[in-house]
Amino acid sequence: MERYFVFIATFLLILHIVQAQNPTGFINVDCGLASRESPYKALPTGLTYTSDAGLVNTGKTGRIAKEFEPDYNKPTLTLRYFPDGVRNCYSLNVTRDTNYLIKATFVYGNYDGLKIDPNFDLYFGPNIWTTVSSNDTIEEIIHVTTSNSLQVCLVKTGISIPFINVLELRPLKKNVYVTQSGSLKYLFRAHLSNSGRSIRYPDDIYDRKWYSFFVDKSWTQVTTTLNVNATNGYELPEGVMATGATPLNANETLNITWTMEPPNTQFYSYMHFAELQTLRANDTREFNVTLNGKYSYGPYSPKPLKTETVLDLQPEQCDGGACILQLVKTPRSTLPPLLNAIEAFTVIDFSQLETNGDEVSGIKNVQSTYGLSRISWQGDPCVPKQFLWDGLNCNNSDISTPPIITSLDLSASGLTGIITQAIQNLTHLQKLDLSNNNLTGEIPEFLADIKSLLVLDLSGNNFTGSVPPSLIQKKGMKLNVEGNPHLLCTADSCVNKGDGGHKKKSIIVPIIASIASIAVLIGALALFFILRKKKPSKVEVPPTSYMQASDGRSPRSSEPAILTKNRRFTYSEVVTMTNNFQRVLGKGGFGIVYHGFVNGTEQVAVKMLSHSSSQGYKQFKAEVELLLRVHHKNLVGLVGYCDEGENLALIYEYMANGDLKEHMSGTRNRFILNWGTRLKIVLESAQGLEYLHNGCKPPMVHRDVKTTNILLNEHFQAKLADFGLSRSFPIEGETHVSTVVAGTPGYLDPEYYRTNWLTEKSDVYSFGIVLLEIITNQPVINQNREKPHIGEWVGVMLTKGDIKNIMDPTLNEDYDSGSVWKAVELAMGCLNPSSAKRPTMSQVVIELNECLASENSRGGASRDMDSKSSIEVSLTFGTEVSPTAR
Ligand SMILES: *[C@@H]1O[C@H](CO)[C@@H](O)[C@H](O)[C@H]1NC(C)=O
Ligand SMILES: *[C@@H]1O[C@H](CO)[C@@H](O)[C@H](O)[C@H]1NC(C)=O
Ligand SMILES: *[C@@H]1O[C@H](CO)[C@@H](O)[C@H](O)[C@H]1NC(C)=O
Ligand SMILES: *[C@@H]1O[C@H](CO)[C@@H](O)[C@H](O)[C@H]1NC(C)=O
Ligand SMILES: *[C@@H]1O[C@H](CO)[C@@H](O)[C@H](O)[C@H]1NC(C)=O
Ligand SMILES: *[C@@H]1O[C@H](CO)[C@@H](O)[C@H](O)[C@H]1NC(C)=O
Ligand SMILES: *[C@@H]1O[C@H](CO)[C@@H](O)[C@H](O)[C@H]1NC(C)=O
Ligand SMILES: *[C@@H]1O[C@H](CO)[C@@H](O)[C@H](O)[C@H]1NC(C)=O
Ligand SMILES: *[C@@H]1O[C@H](CO)[C@@H](O)[C@H](O)[C@H]1NC(C)=O
Repeated sequence: MERYFVFIATFLLILHIVQAQNPTGFINVDCGLASRESPYKALPTGLTYTSDAGLVNTGKTGRIAKEFEPDYNKPTLTLRYFPDGVRNCYSLNVTRDTNYLIKATFVYGNYDGLKIDPNFDLYFGPNIWTTVSSNDTIEEIIHVTTSNSLQVCLVKTGISIPFINVLELRPLKKNVYVTQSGSLKYLFRAHLSNSGRSIRYPDDIYDRKWYSFFVDKSWTQVTTTLNVNATNGYELPEGVMATGATPLNANETLNITWTMEPPNTQFYSYMHFAELQTLRANDTREFNVTLNGKYSYGPYSPKPLKTETVLDLQPEQCDGGACILQLVKTPRSTLPPLLNAIEAFTVIDFSQLETNGDEVSGIKNVQSTYGLSRISWQGDPCVPKQFLWDGLNCNNSDISTPPIITSLDLSASGLTGIITQAIQNLTHLQKLDLSNNNLTGEIPEFLADIKSLLVLDLSGNNFTGSVPPSLIQKKGMKLNVEGNPHLLCTADSCVNKGDGGHKKKSIIVPIIASIASIAVLIGALALFFILRKKKPSKVEVPPTSYMQASDGRSPRSSEPAILTKNRRFTYSEVVTMTNNFQRVLGKGGFGIVYHGFVNGTEQVAVKMLSHSSSQGYKQFKAEVELLLRVHHKNLVGLVGYCDEGENLALIYEYMANGDLKEHMSGTRNRFILNWGTRLKIVLESAQGLEYLHNGCKPPMVHRDVKTTNILLNEHFQAKLADFGLSRSFPIEGETHVSTVVAGTPGYLDPEYYRTNWLTEKSDVYSFGIVLLEIITNQPVINQNREKPHIGEWVGVMLTKGDIKNIMDPTLNEDYDSGSVWKAVELAMGCLNPSSAKRPTMSQVVIELNECLASENSRGGASRDMDSKSSIEVSLTFGTEVSPTAR
């Protein structure tokens, strides 16, 4: 409780010249001021105020009601209010390690005409500063900055809409208003004078506002016309120091009383003294300072015309919150105690550290680079926890170190351009998800330098070049680069001669999200499958270069363990899911397909089936069980099913871009699929089919491969649909065929008519027809053609030797002719009347890969973004890594 005398000598020249410019470091923000009125010089201070444009990205501007205008000066008349979002922040550039006096003014003035008393929280960075609940208040703190930026945040806590009128910052000298810990929050500041006049800038160079305070009935005023030397670190205005108060009764104490709320609040007081009277030789003014009767400092005599400050070096407390500070005359004193000015501050604990400054500047850089305008992306990114920025996760477990950003999810955020360098500064990232944006350029190497990175999802973008080997080789990191049509897979970056399985693991592993969503389940399965060595299947697989590239080691061998999730839905769930069958996506022979949502967000296609016989029902069940076990990225996934009495439904993942046929015929849109995209789509379809043949045990025959069964998702990734169903149900639109006949005329393997037996090679035949369709864009059957069947027609055209006559004219000859020839040859091979002479789907996949590579290696600028192969094409689908269903 010791109180010390502190005298701070300084050698600074203080020039009270009213300058045209603001004192160095002053920040004067007139919130809500129109930019065109900014800056202006405010009365009575003469300080220049600027608009808050650029310091805050949200909020609306307002003005206090006319009736209140006469009571306030200009910076207070306009305000900014924040109807949207919970936390809205001002971000100010400041100087690090500087002692700032910071003031925020809140005058409601019924600006919205609603007469709702304000009630909202004010935060200083991550720490609560105060609750604003008065319609006319100035909040002030003295705080030493810890970084170059400072956040003042307004937080909605109820119906009251946060607002702010003025924000002011004044840098102070370093060694004044020092605390043991914490910052100072204004309690009161008074100069003892009966003038009734308050004093601020320019008289006070720090723009502290000194209210005049006087107890008329017990005090008497002392004043001087002489200059008072106010040169101590506190730089008090002469007008403040030139008057003071003494008790009327010379034997009385000089009392200053106040109450603390809550009672145990800690505070610091600062008393400023200067002797103003000319003392005679036999005069003495001497007194002690006590707080609530306890001695705290003295005996002390003010120095003639010279300012000294008596302050607490440790925070004080008052019993019961009732404080009485007394100046008590000592016995030898001939004059009563004198006090010129006094300030008091409570201690405010801003102990929550701000997020690591480099990371804050990094994430803000990311924000500005991509123009992200998320309402939550204001203030400190990590803390307080309840205002964590969307898409971020932070480690804040150790309160003695600044929080760090551990996860950044910017998936589907409309990002364009390249991956910004700023991400480099997020050095503690464990997970970075940039999937499903429109990012371009090369994947930067620096991502490999983020040591802690465990998951990197770059899928669904437009990256070019190749994946840096350092990323592929990064230990323990999961990388997903799927769905980047331009991304090249060079031999260096992707094919690891020694350890193919390991490489594939690092490339294709899907993200592991915390939610046990179906997507994750499927992803995990895909991972499992990819890791798993395929056992030789009954379907003959010829040796391929892919197989040779593999060492054939099996990273894992056991059965998948994660297949048991119950994906059975009740009929009422289906009704909810489809919003009572509101939106029809399509109509087929099996039933109507509706649009729906699972879990509120995951889009699905719900196919309602009607079963008429118990036989059909058994088959439905068998198919559902089978389909639930089949997972491949090029097969439309079954999300679940409904099996409730008469109501049978299959719930598939939603394919946003319809089917290939629509795109070929132009019924979907006028956008013409270029040759590269067509190749990519058929290659992906071939991979799906190859999986059914070789990845499943027993092998599955699709039986109905055709362009309407090749669906495209939002990234134009192709997936085969309706696989397996053709065994249970008649084919769409073919009312005349009996249930035992599967397939669609034109696509159906002619051998089937002889043998009545469908094999994998029947699918190969149908696939050959699909290939001819993408090459020619001709109907499969056209009675007006020289040869009605597309296979025969192409055969005839080819004997004439001119490939241009069979090619789709809308391609405008914009293709690599080698790649086209190869595709035509492959298609014709698939259509070989003898199934034994047709290639297997594994061979088809290899051939198509080569077609695509050939098309992609074509020089020139005319290729469009979709024409390159995606990286997984080259990686995943050597037959030796094909999945096995059970
Ligand atoms: C704050 O500083 C940053 C760079 O340090 C600058 O880009 C920005 O414009 C500054 N903001 C204001 C309002 O001065
Ligand atoms: C603030 O509230 C008081 C009491 O309710 C009222 O008299 C005064 O006009 C209000 N002032 C403003 C600026 O709203
Ligand atoms: C100051 O406080 C003392 C003790 O509480 C009291 O006796 C005295 O009357 C007060 N003086 C004045 C001027 O209020
Ligand atoms: C005020 O006091 C300081 C410190 O003692 C001294 O350096 C300065 O010259 C004085 N100023 C005047 C105007 O007397
Ligand atoms: C103050 O106290 C002294 C001695 O205790 C006494 O002589 C004097 O009269 C008192 N003065 C007043 C104004 O009460
Ligand atoms: C102090 O000295 C002055 C003359 O300098 C004298 O008039 C006065 O009476 C003295 N006061 C006391 C208390 O001795
Ligand atoms: C003032 O403080 C001194 C020094 O601690 C002490 O001796 C004296 O008794 C105090 N006087 C009063 C009136 O409290
Ligand atoms: C990254 O942080 C460093 C300081 O560690 C800083 O100099 C640099 O400007 C920051 N880069 C970006 C892009 O934010
Ligand atoms: C992605 O960017 C490319 C090139 O800037 C542009 O042509 C394309 O429309 C963009 N796609 C989306 C979905 O924004």
